[in-house]
Amino acid sequence: MTRILDPVLAGRVTSADDAAALIRHGDAVGSSGFTGAGSPKALPAALARRATAAHATGEPFRVQLWTGASTSPEVDGVLAGAHALSKRLPYQGDPTLRAAINTGEVEYVDAHLSHSAQHMWFGFYGHLDVAIVEVAAILPHGLLVPSSSVGNNKTWLDQADRVILEVNSWQPREFEGFHDIYYGTRLPPHRVPLQLTSTMQRIGDPYLRVDPAKVAAVVETDAPDRNTPLKPVDDDSRAMADLLVDFLRREVRHDRMPPELLPLQSGVGNVANAVMAGLLDAEFTGLTSYTEVIQDGLLDLLDAGRLTGVSATGFGLSPDGVKRFNDGINGYKGRILLRSEEISNHPEVVRRLGIIAINGMIEADIYGNVNSTHVMGSAIMNGIGGSGDFARNAFLNFFVSPSTAKGGAISSIVPFASHVDHTEHDVQVIVTEQGLADLRGLSPRTRARRIIDHCAHPAFRDRLHDYLARAEAARPTARHTPHLLAEALGWHQRFLDTGRM
Ligand code: COA
Repeated sequence: MTRILDPVLAGRVTSADDAAALIRHGDAVGSSGFTGAGSPKALPAALARRATAAHATGEPFRVQLWTGASTSPEVDGVLAGAHALSKRLPYQGDPTLRAAINTGEVEYVDAHLSHSAQHMWFGFYGHLDVAIVEVAAILPHGLLVPSSSVGNNKTWLDQADRVILEVNSWQPREFEGFHDIYYGTRLPPHRVPLQLTSTMQRIGDPYLRVDPAKVAAVVETDAPDRNTPLKPVDDDSRAMADLLVDFLRREVRHDRMPPELLPLQSGVGNVANAVMAGLLDAEFTGLTSYTEVIQDGLLDLLDAGRLTGVSATGFGLSPDGVKRFNDGINGYKGRILLRSEEISNHPEVVRRLGIIAINGMIEADIYGNVNSTHVMGSAIMNGIGGSGDFARNAFLNFFVSPSTAKGGAISSIVPFASHVDHTEHDVQVIVTEQGLADLRGLSPRTRARRIIDHCAHPAFRDRLHDYLARAEAARPTARHTPHLLAEALGWHQRFLDTGRM
């Protein structure tokens, strides 16, 4: 049965190559996609073919690509591989694109995800020429059934001059009713409070809207989302999950949290997923989640009846998780809600609901400054994503990481973070497989001793204590946050000199 129920838009169906021909060198392109979920399936490859053909004749062809967050290798990887990208925002996680950013070929604006839509409306990013958005169906009068992620689709559809829709019949038609798209956002000074006071509350419509006059082409696809399998929970991840779950237990015992906890946010990745698995083995019931991405661990909690509902902006499931969700989709209706990322990550809502935020990190320094994005201060890994939106405004935040990287060669606890995404003022609890450091209410030097003793790997503990002691002794009148600056930077240089980075 056709997924295109609008007769005008049904008349605009064309091939991906013809649709890609509507995109010009220098255009800013706003695309759907949040992790592998909901990315366009046909246009990026067609655009890459266009770029390759243009480059073969000496013609320039590069576009800016703006999305919800990371996409799939079929979007970022293919376009970066074809040298078709000039600029990328607000997040990425693709190895080919990462390399192109780190060599300087592609400019990258690594932004808080809650900022990306509003910075577009404020005019900070310039003009958006084209939107490419995957949908599950087109209803009459330009109403669109979103697919497996929402991200910034509402904004791109609103702001772009021209729109190309990909209608993907692989996506369940039953997605209708899973989304809550808020159209009430105003710009300062006319903003009003966001009336969202509980995790599963609806404040918008189930549909995205588009002005049919702007739709330049419709492309039909039938291709699956790209979903990466999650690693089995390893010993380190299980240890971190156990520490974190035990800590939450203690918070409940001390009446700092209700028995059903507060809404959970968990970042992407294997560790975050392992924490959700840890909650499955724990005694908590009546849990809720107000988060960005739904990974398998959240689906497990829903299936076990431990989680009553989850609000997010997209899925990030393994292939098994997708099958489980698609096969049982009707049973999840009303228990899963997908919103625009300006709402899923909204600081006002995160603060009001009292989120428990759990995110990964690359390194933390002894005072609690956290680096989520840069290796050795210079090379981007992924981006800040939603970690700042959630951590800064959370009721309680955790940053989790193994205590070492690269087979034990590098300590994730360092004297001075080589790049700072979350400052000492924002970071509350650090967890490694070695232990957990609760930093709440502690001064910098007390924090330092706690982080070294509880979180650093034993192979690095003495060196870190020695650094702290010598820094304290060096300048008796500068002991609030003592540092030996040249030595602190040399700590990182030492790893660079080994040639392992
Ligand atoms: N020095 C050098 N490299 C390091 C490192 C360090 N201190 N810590 C981690 N890495 C490398 C790992 O070696 C690994 O590299 P590889 O892929 O080449 O093996 C990579 O970073 C990922 O680390 P891993 O330990 O597998 O953890 P992860 O998959 O959980 O990712 C982050 C950790 C920080 C990269 C990831 O959580 C992230 O991108 N966070 C920022 C965005 C965010 O928090 N989003 C969620 C908000 S909803």
